[in-house]
Amino acid sequence: MGKDEFVPKILCFLCQWCGYSAADLAGTTRVQYPPSIRSIEVTCSGMVHPNWIVNSLLGGLDGVMIFGCHLGQCHYGAGNEIALARSQLVKETLWDLGIDEERFAIEWVSASEAEKFAQKVTEMTEKIRQLGPNTSSHGSLPGLEKPVYQQTIKEFIYNIDGKDYYWDGEIYNDHLSAQRAISKYLDLDFEAKLVPVKDKILIYTRREVHKFKKS
Ligand code: FES
Repeated sequence: MGKDEFVPKILCFLCQWCGYSAADLAGTTRVQYPPSIRSIEVTCSGMVHPNWIVNSLLGGLDGVMIFGCHLGQCHYGAGNEIALARSQLVKETLWDLGIDEERFAIEWVSASEAEKFAQKVTEMTEKIRQLGPNTSSHGSLPGLEKPVYQQTIKEFIYNIDGKDYYWDGEIYNDHLSAQRAISKYLDLDFEAKLVPVKDKILIYTRREVHKFKKS
């Protein structure tokens, strides 16, 4: 299949207040954009769990986008800032898994920015067209073994080159509950790295760990 024939499959998570409204406006005002996207409306960009993104790409979709309200304008306070912090975690994990991090993008639009929505979707489609179909799912970085991963709803664990990586995309209200959550799973020599997002909201980044508890 040539690049011209390739129609990327791109999944967009649209926050109901801005992303969805901008997409809807693009439709009703006939602003043109490629028919490459499928969309899922979510309450807020902050509710898009990182596992949804990673699993979509591991499952063979060609790209994933999140459209949220502009920073400072989330209708639930800091949802888009949480989404932004998680997006860094996602990009690092995609790299580890051998999936080009360019296949994931997070964008901000207002409800009236139909043109910007269309432009971002068009740019993403073109970028992915250049990258080609997502044959890299399940890992193909040169020199790396196929990653082994397992996950529960909250946690994501994968192994590359004999090293285990772990992350948890959940949000915790304070440092202590975050530490408690991770200590159930990991040996005490593991130092969790916690990322503050606004006051008292913390998430884990992924970290290399030495071994997992058996139970
Ligand atoms: Fe739109 Fe939170 S409500 S990003």
